[in-house]
Amino acid sequence: MTDTPAVVSFTDTHPDRETFLGEALAGLCAMPKTLPSKYFYDEPGCQLFRRICELPEYYVTRAETALLGDIAAQAAEMIGTSASIIEYGIGSSEKAGILLAALDRPAAFVGVDIAGGALSAVAETMARDFPDLAVHAVCADFTQPFQLPALAGPGRRVVFFPGSSLGNFDHEQAVAFLANAARVAGPNGGMLIGIDLKKDVAILNAAYNDAQDVTAAFNLNLLRHLNRECGAAFDLDAFRHHAFYNDDLGRIEMHLVSLREQTVYLGGQAIVFAEGETIHTENSYKYSIPEFQDLARRAGWEPLRAWSDAENLFSLHYLSVAAE
Ligand code: AVI
Repeated sequence: MTDTPAVVSFTDTHPDRETFLGEALAGLCAMPKTLPSKYFYDEPGCQLFRRICELPEYYVTRAETALLGDIAAQAAEMIGTSASIIEYGIGSSEKAGILLAALDRPAAFVGVDIAGGALSAVAETMARDFPDLAVHAVCADFTQPFQLPALAGPGRRVVFFPGSSLGNFDHEQAVAFLANAARVAGPNGGMLIGIDLKKDVAILNAAYNDAQDVTAAFNLNLLRHLNRECGAAFDLDAFRHHAFYNDDLGRIEMHLVSLREQTVYLGGQAIVFAEGETIHTENSYKYSIPEFQDLARRAGWEPLRAWSDAENLFSLHYLSVAAE
């Protein structure tokens, strides 16, 4: 009988319903109204996001995966032997698989994600594909402190944060996140991070307004998630998706626009919408390479190397924890 490689640990600190309700109420009672984008990722939201990654207009995933394939050997050389890789926001096993396959005898892999179902599927794939690797899964909101499993590997700890998910934080949150990642990586640690580049506005607008309306369904699904988990009664037909590049702020903004005057009840509170009023559901900041490197330096990282594809769509950066 052969041993089936197993996931070494699965830790679940996924935010509970009260946390979701509290954060949703705080956002919907604010002016202008907002909802946290991390709540896009329930099971249907994860499925819609996987479809977004395959859309012709959404170049992000294709550009990053191809670039990672091109530079993985160079990144692996910088990372060194027996490293422990900690991936935040693990939507699929593909990118981590490319990195791990290039590394010299990686010791451990920790996947951290808010979506437990997707996370355990990816962790099982990693354990099967890399039987010598200690694979851990942590289901957590990685914007909040969480406990990392003990990692005994002799090599450096490297945070892997692909997908330009850092773009979903504002600049201050991004610096705080990067500073925390530097603490997680520890002295001599590293980070390999994917950052979407500033580019032609038409390309950006198309990527968040696809012809098949998958991004619209992904945005509206946030209200369905709120209805199901928190007992809200949003009428999805009474809102429409609106996404645009805000050039002054260097970000895509996603909103849900109320199509009429309406009142929605949530947790016993009346939320009143004027016709045309929006809920701001997501920002996706775009950076030039020097802009991102400045942000990384502010958070205690030393940018060692940046790569971009021939069309300058996307960038990958290797950072090292700056010496004290
Ligand atoms: C996960 N994140 C980096 C995506 C982005 O591009 O900001 C989420 C997304 N929202 C709409 N399309 C994709």
